[in-house]
Amino acid sequence: MVYSKCLLLIIAVFPCVAGNFYQEVDVTWGDGRGQIMDNGNLLALSLDKASGSGFQSKNQYLFGRFDIKIKLVPGNSAGIVTAYYLRSQESLWDEIDFEFLGNLSGQPYIVHTNIYVQGQGDREQQFYLWFDPTADFHTYSFLWNPTHIVWYVDGRPIREFKNMETKGAPYPKTQAMRLYASLWDAEEWATRGGLVKTDWTKAPFTASFRSYNANGCVWSDAASWCGQNSTPWLSEALDSGSQKVLRWVRKKYMIYDYCTDQMRFPQGLPRECTVRTNL
Ligand SMILES: *[C@@H]1O[C@H](CO)[C@@H](O)[C@H](O)[C@H]1NC(C)=O
Repeated sequence: MVYSKCLLLIIAVFPCVAGNFYQEVDVTWGDGRGQIMDNGNLLALSLDKASGSGFQSKNQYLFGRFDIKIKLVPGNSAGIVTAYYLRSQESLWDEIDFEFLGNLSGQPYIVHTNIYVQGQGDREQQFYLWFDPTADFHTYSFLWNPTHIVWYVDGRPIREFKNMETKGAPYPKTQAMRLYASLWDAEEWATRGGLVKTDWTKAPFTASFRSYNANGCVWSDAASWCGQNSTPWLSEALDSGSQKVLRWVRKKYMIYDYCTDQMRFPQGLPRECTVRTNL
């Protein structure tokens, strides 16, 4: 566990740093376009016309809290998507997504979120950010425990997906997931529905990652190991202050919510949308 490794480091009087990329992830594709630097503290993914790049966590997890700092592609990033997500291996897979849709210089990125349960997605929410995500590193996190999933930006919850299985809505809780990140070209989809194309004269495009911290129940040999230390995130709920922040983000920065898109679901909104209580 990361936590116990940190404790050992503290005892040895070294600073307790977040996960080192050499230890925590493998750069799995991109033929040299994904690079770990700065003694494992920095990972850069790049994209050019020939290919994007990506990395994945060495471990698989069944529940956890995942944080990473990302500095998104600056300048004209139209058509480029930086994806950061959890996903299982099964053919009817579970997945929890953050995707950052690039834009023309000076135009806002869209933060696209989605969740798949047993291969079924169509649960998008989209947001603008309250800062320029290309000027500096910001922390993007997933909390995934048996009762809810929360997407955080700089510690502020932007989305919550509750476990409402008792009300008939599916929830991902049986498939272990790996963490992935990638930089890819989605010019047919990303910027204004594909109207704005990628400007390849500006390639290569680069996004940078730092301070990866996975605090989860590691899945191995068909069993889950949460460590002997306390795991506060395993039972963590949103307190009233966090619920207030979530309402503020939804009111000021949310631009799309599948739960209000009646046109898309003529047979009726998904179950979790109709039993929502406090939002
Ligand atoms: C890009 O900027 C335009 C204009 O401000 C905005 O409508 C759009 O939502 C932005 N994001 C994307 C990904 O298109």
